[in-house]
Amino acid sequence: MINATGMLRDGALENKTIIVTGGGTGLGKSMAKYFLQLGARVVICSRKLPVLEAAAAELTEATGGQVLPLACDVRHPQEIEAVIAQTVERFGRIDGLLNNSAGNFISPTERLSYKAFDIIVDIVLRGTYYFTLAVGKYWIENKIPGTVLNISTTYATTGSGYVVPSAVAKGGALILVKSLAAEWARYGIRLNAIAPGPFPTKGAWDRLFPEPLVKLMNPLSRIPLKRTGEHQELANLAAYLLSDYSSYMTGECITIDGGEVLSAGEFNHLDQVPSEQWDEIERAVRQANRPAGG
Ligand code: HXC
Ligand code: NAP
Repeated sequence: MINATGMLRDGALENKTIIVTGGGTGLGKSMAKYFLQLGARVVICSRKLPVLEAAAAELTEATGGQVLPLACDVRHPQEIEAVIAQTVERFGRIDGLLNNSAGNFISPTERLSYKAFDIIVDIVLRGTYYFTLAVGKYWIENKIPGTVLNISTTYATTGSGYVVPSAVAKGGALILVKSLAAEWARYGIRLNAIAPGPFPTKGAWDRLFPEPLVKLMNPLSRIPLKRTGEHQELANLAAYLLSDYSSYMTGECITIDGGEVLSAGEFNHLDQVPSEQWDEIERAVRQANRPAGG
C-alpha cells in the first residue's frame, strides 16, 4: 500500500524560510507545497518568472501560505545574491536552501558539443555551489544554523552512461555536501542530499524517457517495487531533512528509488524465472552436489 500523505506534524516548519531553486515546476513545486503546508515561508526561483508567478498563485491558493517567486538563473552569482537580499527583506531571514534546479537530457556522450556538456554542468554543479556558498556566507555572518538539501540522483555515486554531464555534476554536488557538512558543522550548518529514482515530472520525462525510447524499453522493469515514486513520498523526506527533527544528520545522502540501484545485484534478474521452473533448476543444482557415480 502506498501511503502518499503528509508525514510530519502540523507546523513542523513554522517560522522557517526556505528557498527552493527550480520551485516553479515538477518536484520542486511539490516539495514547496508541502513546506508551505507545514508552515514554512517559501521562495521559489528559476529562470522563467511567468512560470514561477503562476506556481506561486496556485500554491498560495492551495495552502494559504506565503510564497515569493523570484527570477534567478543559478549560473549567475549576482542573481543569487539578489534572491538572498529580497528574501531577507521580505521574510527577515533564511533557514533552508533546497538545491533542486537542474538541466538534463539523454544522449550518447560523443554526440554532445562542448556547449551542451557545459550547460548541464553549469546549472547543476556551478549553480549548486554558487547558491550554497552565497547562503552559507550569509548564515555564518548572521550566526544562523541553516540547512541545505540537495536533490541528487542515484547515479551521482554509481555513474551512468547517456547522462554523463548530469552524472559528473551531481557527483560533484554530492561531494560538496559531504565536504561542507564537515567544514561548516562548527557553525551549526547541516547539509544533506536525497537521491531519488524515477518520479514522474514533465521536465524529466520529456528529456529522459521520450516516447521513442519508452517504446523500446519499459523504465519500470528495472525497479524492484515496480512503480515510480509519488511526489509526496519525496516531499516527506525533504521536509524531514530540512526540519529540526533531522538535527543530528549531516553529510548524508538518502536513496528513495523503489530499490532500483539494488537491481544491479548479480542475480536479481532471476526474478524473470517462472516460479514453476524452480523445481527443475533446484534438481539440477542438487544433482551437481552429488558425488560422482552416487
Ligand atoms: C544533444 C542537445 C540536446 C540533445 C540540447 N542540446 N538538447 N545536444 N542532444 N537532446 C544542446 C544544444 O544543441 C546546445 O548546444 C546546448 O545543448 C544548449 O541547448 P539550448 O537548447 O540552447 O539550451 P537552453 O534553451 O538553455 O536549455 C537548457 C537545457 C534544457 C538543459 C538543454 O533541457 C532545459 O532547459 N532543461 C531544464 C529542465 C530539465 O532539464 N529538467 C530535467 C531534470 S531531470 P550547441 O552546441 O548546439 O549550441 C533530472 C532527473 C535525473 O535531472 C534522474 C532521473 C531518474
Ligand atoms: P523539472 O520540473 O524540469 O525541474 C527542473 C527545474 O530547474 C525547473 O523548474 C527549471 O526552471 C529549473 N532550472 C533549470 N535551469 C535553471 C537555471 N539555469 N537556473 C535556475 N533554475 C533552473 O524536473 P524535475 O524532475 O522536477 O527535477 C527536479 C530535480 O529532481 C532535479 O534536480 C533533478 O535532477 C532531480 N531528479 C529528478 C528525478 C525525476 O525522476 N523526476 C529523479 C532524480 C532526480 P526554469 O526552466 O524556469 O529555469
